[in-house]
Amino acid sequence: MRKNIVAGNWKMNKTLQEGLTLAIELNDALATEKLNCKVVIGTPFIHLASVTKAIDTKKIAVSAQNCSDKESGAFTGEISAAMVKSTGAEYVILGHSERREYYGETSEVLNRKVALALANGLTPIYCCGEALEVRNSNGQNDFVKNQLDETIFNLSVDDFKKLVIAYEPIWAIGTGVTASTEQAQEMLSFIRSIIANKFGNDVAENTSILYGGSCNAKNASELFAQPDIDGGLIGGASLKVADFKAIIDAF
Ligand code: PGA
Repeated sequence: MRKNIVAGNWKMNKTLQEGLTLAIELNDALATEKLNCKVVIGTPFIHLASVTKAIDTKKIAVSAQNCSDKESGAFTGEISAAMVKSTGAEYVILGHSERREYYGETSEVLNRKVALALANGLTPIYCCGEALEVRNSNGQNDFVKNQLDETIFNLSVDDFKKLVIAYEPIWAIGTGVTASTEQAQEMLSFIRSIIANKFGNDVAENTSILYGGSCNAKNASELFAQPDIDGGLIGGASLKVADFKAIIDAF
């Protein structure tokens, strides 16, 4: 059975002190709850070690938002997958559209990042999704299939099974425009069908696929009720405990 997951992506927000406060408040808010989904928080690198120590990581897993495509060595300013793992983090968000767009991350770079994340025991939350022009010309399925073909569809079946996928249409990220429930379900069902073609039905049925892009306390229940939507990757709404908790409680 695939897992339901609500994962927060804090992006470049919160100082260390503010981030610790947010993580501890979330931890306290969930302490007595029996959760129906896996909760993950994606913090900036510098928060990881402190946050993993301050919260119950059996209840809230911690994720990085990126890692280097190099193993180690003279790469000033980079953070390796092994370093992320050594903080106690279990997940890493890879291929987010903001990284692809602003930092030029290509499929080639992402192949190396995914491989290093897996080799170091991290679970990649692998993002894909099309821009508005692509959607407007109805090219979204081909676009997303191509993104997956060039990256995670090259993995062995055993490695592929360790991934979480997040579909985030770029036009819905941080814009307040959510994909309609039908658009999100349609794409996630399409992604599941191409996973089935490539790796078989069993693998497809067991892969968690998340929707991301202006997912909030109001629309989460309807999105999560769809048969192929296994949770959300949440940006803005993960920065407020009440909003993020309401999304978690939508399961
Ligand atoms: P948003 O961001 O929820 O603020 O739209 C989602 C994401 O980029 O992961």
